[in-house]
Amino acid sequence: MCNWVMFIAFALMMSGCAASPPMFAPIAGDAEDGAQLFAQGRDEVPPCLTCHRVIRGQVGFSIGPNLAGIGERAGTQVAGLSAEEYVRQSILEPERYIVSGYRDIMYPDYSAHLTEQNIQDLIAYLLML
Ligand code: HEC
Repeated sequence: MCNWVMFIAFALMMSGCAASPPMFAPIAGDAEDGAQLFAQGRDEVPPCLTCHRVIRGQVGFSIGPNLAGIGERAGTQVAGLSAEEYVRQSILEPERYIVSGYRDIMYPDYSAHLTEQNIQDLIAYLLML
């Protein structure tokens, strides 16, 4: 009897814990910082703008896809990945999905040089393009 009461009390306590907010609050992305990093890079981080255009309809050669409108198509590129997850994977593991018509030549080492804040900033910027 007493054991059951203890068990229920324990279960309630645990479910209370599960519902409490995560210990680490998610980092909010800053699109302006993202835009700056995208255009200028930093030390070990080559600018994304070297290879990507961001102006809709702009034509001419570029190594990577034009990212204007990426916010609209990111969520449907890879089944099972949300827009945010797709952009994150594209930056950190570009070799996992190669956009049709392009080659696997995106700079592969962003994962070693970008902070979580940098990634969130870039995602915030890109999803608004
Ligand atoms: C050396 C050239 C190069 C650089 C620098 C580069 N990319 Fe790329 N990127 C590519 C190429 C080529 C592709 C297409 C092949 C593929 O899917 O990996 C691509 C694909 C992408 C895609 C997927 C596009 C789509 O239409 O689905 C995203 C998003 C992206 N890059 C973001 C970035 C961001 C953000 C940076 C900077 C942090 C960056 N790239 C830097 C060459 C580059």
